[in-house]
Amino acid sequence: MKKLAVAVAGLGMIGRETVRLLRKRRAELRERLGAELTLVAVADRQVGREARALSLPGRVVRYADPVAMARSADADLFVELLGGFDAPRRFALEALGRGRSVVTANKRLLAYAWPQLARAARASGASLAFEGSVAGGIPVLRALELSFSGDRVLSLDGILNGTTNYILTRCEEGLTAAAALREAQEKGFAEKDSALDLSGRDAAQKLSVLAGLVTGGWLKPDSFPVAGIESVESRDVAYARQRLGKAVRLVARLRFAGSAAAPLVEAGVSATLVPLDHPLAAARRQYNALLVRTASAGDLMFYGQGAGAGPTASAVLADLFVTARDLLGGLPAPRPGPRPLQLAPPGSAVSGFYLRLEVIDLPGALARIAGALGREGVSIASIHQDLAAGARAVPVMITTHPAPRGRFELARRRILGLAAVSKRHCAMRILG
Ligand SMILES: NC(=O)c1ccc[n+]([C@@H]2O[C@H](COP(=O)([O-])OP(=O)(O)OC[C@H]3O[C@@H](n4cnc5c(N)ncnc54)[C@H](OP(=O)(O)O)[C@@H]3O)[C@@H](O)[C@H]2O)c1
Repeated sequence: MKKLAVAVAGLGMIGRETVRLLRKRRAELRERLGAELTLVAVADRQVGREARALSLPGRVVRYADPVAMARSADADLFVELLGGFDAPRRFALEALGRGRSVVTANKRLLAYAWPQLARAARASGASLAFEGSVAGGIPVLRALELSFSGDRVLSLDGILNGTTNYILTRCEEGLTAAAALREAQEKGFAEKDSALDLSGRDAAQKLSVLAGLVTGGWLKPDSFPVAGIESVESRDVAYARQRLGKAVRLVARLRFAGSAAAPLVEAGVSATLVPLDHPLAAARRQYNALLVRTASAGDLMFYGQGAGAGPTASAVLADLFVTARDLLGGLPAPRPGPRPLQLAPPGSAVSGFYLRLEVIDLPGALARIAGALGREGVSIASIHQDLAAGARAVPVMITTHPAPRGRFELARRRILGLAAVSKRHCAMRILG
């Protein structure tokens, strides 16, 4: 029986579950692979304690330094589950440089070190697999990589962050955003420091990985517009649902134009109003969803748990299985290329918009707001003034017909400069 040796770096939440599943599923994996996947080394700052907790046999070599393990462990497959950036980058480059395949669930590593990793993998012929880095246990990357090989992916619209989706859907059920975040933290869906999630940057890193997989090129995570849900309040969610028939979701989107050889990519992450009968509106709580539009297969929807030990470790194990199969003589996995992607101008994306303003009840205030939108050619679809509030400043909710984002942003800035309008506001894209 052939053997493939596995080394795992990082014995945290995902690493421990990966090691546990690797051992638990050993017989099934052997049966399906025709070879044995054997754990030969582990690395973690607390490696002794973690190895004891996992009851690892003495022959599994323990390292406190993951980079030293990548440099010297006698393994065919190196799994990176450290989190962070610098140590994972050095770990992956070291292993790839030795011609050893790397499996990672680290979206930040992929999003920021894509060209370096791609070059190292190409130079040595080693594979880099990363199914766990986007949408946890949902096998979206493999589907994008293989299942549409004879098709063309036209666009992706995804709910890629479970924390923000949990907050937005709990707001639909009457909670404030702050209370929903506290609840998500108590239930373990959200990190203590939730800034990466709330700002949309977590979703942006995942979008970068998806774009790279579809095109083979590098979409820098800081190169496209990213807005999170910090300014969204429960009243926006309620208004969208009750008056506009829409749900608020943090949507990461990609549109591919140009040719396959020179793709032109439109990318963005923003709080978005989604029609209630749209498939993305059905993704609730901590769930993730990805709507893929293709030229031949039409629309496909992927849905499931986007994080957590079980779903992510399942994706890591799938990567191990597929990479092992390739090493044993199956089809080589496609490797990412280092070429940067050409981006469409950030203001060119066209959609309708929702704008909630706090307006002091002065004569002519609404006319000035409408005028600012009109000057940019953005036409109003609906306008609602919440007089029930009874205060000096009243909320005004505006929706617009489709317009280029750049024109809307100019109008928004002009509106926020008006004396009668408070800086406190909420702007969202409208889908469909
Ligand atoms: N959690 C999820 O639901 C989820 C979902 C998808 C993808 N991921 C990705 O999976 C990876 C692992 O996540 P996790 O939740 O398992 O993280 P975690 O619980 O923090 O585990 C990481 C482990 O690696 C150790 N470590 C980190 N840097 C090290 C270094 N330089 N040297 C030695 N040990 C080091 C940590 O030790 P210390 O604790 O002492 O630092 C910890 O034991 C991350 O890239 C994450 O983005 C996680």
